Amino acid sequence: MSENPEKHHQIEIYPHTHQKRISSRRPLAVWLVVLLLGAVYLALSHAVALSWRDNGRSSASSPPQAVCVQPAALFPSDADGKLEEAYGHISSDAFRSKTIERLSGAVQIKTETFDDLGEVGEDRRWDVFFGFYDYLEKTFPAVHQTLRVEKINTHGLLYTWQGRDSNGLDAAYRKPTVLMAHQDTVPVPDDTIDAWTYPPWSGAYDGTFIWGRGASDCKNQLIAILEATELLLQHGFQPKRTLLLSFGFDEESFGYHGAGNLSAVIHDRYGDDGLAVVIDEGAGFENVWGTLFAKPGTAEKGSTNVEVTVRSPGGHSSVPRDHTSIGILSELITQIEATQYPARLDERNPYFAQLQCGATHAAAFPPKLRKLLARHRPSNASPDHPGHPDPLAIEAAKQGPEIKYLLQTSQAVDIVAGGVKVNAMPERAKAVINHRVNIGETTQVVYDRLTRIAGGVARKHNLTLHAFDGQDEADSILLVAPHSSESSPISPADGSGVSPFSVLAGSVRAIYGEETIVTPGIMTGNTDTRFFWDLTKHIFRFAPGYDPEDQVGGLRGIHTINEKVNVNNHINAVKFFFLFVRNIDEAEV
Ligand SMILES: *[C@@H]1O[C@H](CO)[C@@H](O)[C@H](O)[C@H]1NC(C)=O
Ligand SMILES: *[C@@H]1O[C@H](CO)[C@@H](O)[C@H](O)[C@H]1NC(C)=O
Ligand SMILES: [Zn+2]
Repeated sequence: MSENPEKHHQIEIYPHTHQKRISSRRPLAVWLVVLLLGAVYLALSHAVALSWRDNGRSSASSPPQAVCVQPAALFPSDADGKLEEAYGHISSDAFRSKTIERLSGAVQIKTETFDDLGEVGEDRRWDVFFGFYDYLEKTFPAVHQTLRVEKINTHGLLYTWQGRDSNGLDAAYRKPTVLMAHQDTVPVPDDTIDAWTYPPWSGAYDGTFIWGRGASDCKNQLIAILEATELLLQHGFQPKRTLLLSFGFDEESFGYHGAGNLSAVIHDRYGDDGLAVVIDEGAGFENVWGTLFAKPGTAEKGSTNVEVTVRSPGGHSSVPRDHTSIGILSELITQIEATQYPARLDERNPYFAQLQCGATHAAAFPPKLRKLLARHRPSNASPDHPGHPDPLAIEAAKQGPEIKYLLQTSQAVDIVAGGVKVNAMPERAKAVINHRVNIGETTQVVYDRLTRIAGGVARKHNLTLHAFDGQDEADSILLVAPHSSESSPISPADGSGVSPFSVLAGSVRAIYGEETIVTPGIMTGNTDTRFFWDLTKHIFRFAPGYDPEDQVGGLRGIHTINEKVNVNNHINAVKFFFLFVRNIDEAEV
């Protein structure tokens, strides 16, 4: 643990300055007195510093100890010649051209999912996943010959590599590892195809990037996992711990068909808390405060979509009412957008941990944030009442919207509908508002605020308010929340002992060097891991690929045009999975 540099400074500098003032011509007595005074001063200031730390939580000049401990770079101890050779092979030109071909091939298979898909087996649009599986089977022969492959709900893929010791005496140390990714991609709207530099299903390689829908969200992750597994199999690795690969096929539209069913099968087999660790797609790397951070997501914000419907009388528009349903809905939306949810940094929020990591390890950490961080107190807020303004959160949010929404509930009016005819006043107008709920708050915060705002508008227009009560009548404003989930449990992320987090962090530092700081991260979006909360506390949403030469990092163009992945970044992801599987196999977690 690095100590506070200012403290060293204080202890060392006084004897030094005192010595400087002492001229050799002065009598010994004076010299002794000065030394004595110096010693007394030191002892006193030390005592003051100690009591200061005991009383307060932590002062600006003494951040708490044992924060953001970084495990050493972690390499497997069972040095095995063949596996070391395989690890080296990942960096070779031969492997590079092979994996470009394999990832490009995967991108070329159009596996879009849509929000309006029907049942598997009925809606023919699911059938693209048969072709995708055939491609995987022929591209990774060792995986498909050696591992048990099960198709869950037709297209969900569950691979089991049975660990040797799974039934042995130390089985408690050998819960399975799960590596996840999804086979599907978001659709490419037809009218955007022309805007792509390379066509979205081309898998084109331009010397640096592979282009196409799914190239970075997240066929790269799926292929990297399979590449690493294939190499481990080919080079004689025999896991002590069971390794599961779980690939859903509708992550981009809720995930029930895929991950929902996969997790149910895994749960039947291994039970509550039956897994050692889950790694799924997620956050990657960030260069900030002069430091490279890897940010495996240890939590997801909550989310809820609220439908707002205004029902008011119709009639001929030649004799209109002053405010139609559309006008009233607009007034409501304007009021909702007029204020935002407060920025608030709960101490359990992984971004709080990142600030602590920054204060501890980043040379260019902003002094203002450092000061506010040292003064931060656990908020007096309850989950449903945000409490006083939070100066640390407000200052941190100034770094930009990407940071702000790590520590603030978001609201976005994304869908609006109403009106059918130009000469008829609409009897209904409806909007859907998407929210991502801050750590430490609940969806109830959102419902309470919308109820209050809608109540005012309803009174003004003499309408009845039905807020989340399931009722519906004419002349009313209705609030309904068909989809909601609270924020996820927070995965433990202590780098000081042996834990899934420290194995992950040690593997990252083995690949990228020990100047890389691994901090917990937070996801503003959801992943398939939401079906795995009961299965383990140790869930990490992590994109392990990074190219130090390309600071833009991963996740380029996801959900929009020109999605692409840097091949160096992809190759480092293969290294990560290769190393992580071996490291976690040895760890007693
Ligand atoms: C399994 O998938 C079906 C639809 O294919 C869905 O209705 C069901 O809820 C899923 N099961 C789970 C446990 O999510
Ligand atoms: C409000 O609506 C009620 C019926 O819903 C009606 O009796 C009343 O007269 C209305 N008041 C105003 C001010 O329009
Ligand atoms: Zn994804």
